[in-house]
Amino acid sequence: MTTTMHASSAPDLPLFSLQDVEKAYPIDQGRRALKALDGVRLTLRAGESLALVGESGSGKSTLVRVMLGLETATNGRVRVRGHELDQMDSAARRRHAREVAYIYQDARGSLDPRMTVAALLAEPIRLHRLRDEREIPGRVAELLAQVGLPDEVARRYPSELSGGQVRRVAVARALACEPQVIVADESVAGLDVSVQAQLLNLLRDLQRDSGIALVFVTHDLGVAAYLCERVAVMYLGRIVESGPTASILGAPRHPYTQGLMDAFPRFDAPLSSPLRGEIPSPADLPPGCRFQSRCPQARADCLATDPPLTSHAGREAACLFPLQPAASGIAATAQTR
Ligand SMILES: Nc1ncnc2c1ncn2[C@@H]1O[C@H](COP(=O)(O)OP(=O)(O)O)[C@@H](O)[C@H]1O
Ligand SMILES: [Mg+2]
Repeated sequence: MTTTMHASSAPDLPLFSLQDVEKAYPIDQGRRALKALDGVRLTLRAGESLALVGESGSGKSTLVRVMLGLETATNGRVRVRGHELDQMDSAARRRHAREVAYIYQDARGSLDPRMTVAALLAEPIRLHRLRDEREIPGRVAELLAQVGLPDEVARRYPSELSGGQVRRVAVARALACEPQVIVADESVAGLDVSVQAQLLNLLRDLQRDSGIALVFVTHDLGVAAYLCERVAVMYLGRIVESGPTASILGAPRHPYTQGLMDAFPRFDAPLSSPLRGEIPSPADLPPGCRFQSRCPQARADCLATDPPLTSHAGREAACLFPLQPAASGIAATAQTR
């Protein structure tokens, strides 16, 4: 293994490579473990946009925290451009913290209310020594322009901004780090549809024009389809289907993906068949396939065998009896690209 940490030394290594990553939390006073992540395999390449989708409790936020280095995997490997995340020295960790920018779910709560927008944007620039002091005001103005905010916003405090403006400031703060990846956890949830659309457009343009990779956590398949080239569907701590968004949503192989699509209200279709039952607790996984207890297709084998994620034609699914393309007559109407 090389010791150099420069991106230029390893242009073809994926930004992120996760192998069989587990994250267990002790529960019941440490008598049992809850696996929030249970064997995640994932690759993210430079400039790629990836949507992480799945119901609440499927492990999306935990996965993001592990990728950011905010939490350590209890098993498996997380490599960042070939380097093990948990073996990085402090300089490499600082670099990782700069290159992987996080937009918090609660954008307003993540901004210090006593700081002006100018100060909030200057902070990461100083922290990572990205500009000389005298260049900072110009850089702040540049960042505001990049996220479509007027100059005068620089003098305001977060409490004086609308929800949409606060999200834009959060995006500008992420860009201030000059990141390779932006990770956003449900960052448009709770916004007006029109404001939501503006923010999605902003993120999409940034990702396309600047080559920054994007990991977008959402439970909204329409948002995933609009924003991301690739999608990874999570269920109970594992990725159960992944691949190019258009082909996955156009013809899902995993019944869980199909279930999410059926439950997803579209403008042209009423809510047809929501997923039956509730997502089980990761502390009480059903035997065999983890989706078996809710799967309309489950057979005897599914109760006995835990299916691995297997590749087929550029996409992956963890199902013993994957849906056949013809059987799923639903086109991805949300796909607008
Ligand atoms: N610190 C923690 N301690 C115990 N359980 C946790 C902790 N964080 C998350 N979990 C559990 O891990 C599972 C996945 O959570 P999370 O990653 O937040 O899912 P998602 O973001 O998809 O909703 C849930 O069952 C959640 O209750
Ligand atoms: Mg979450």
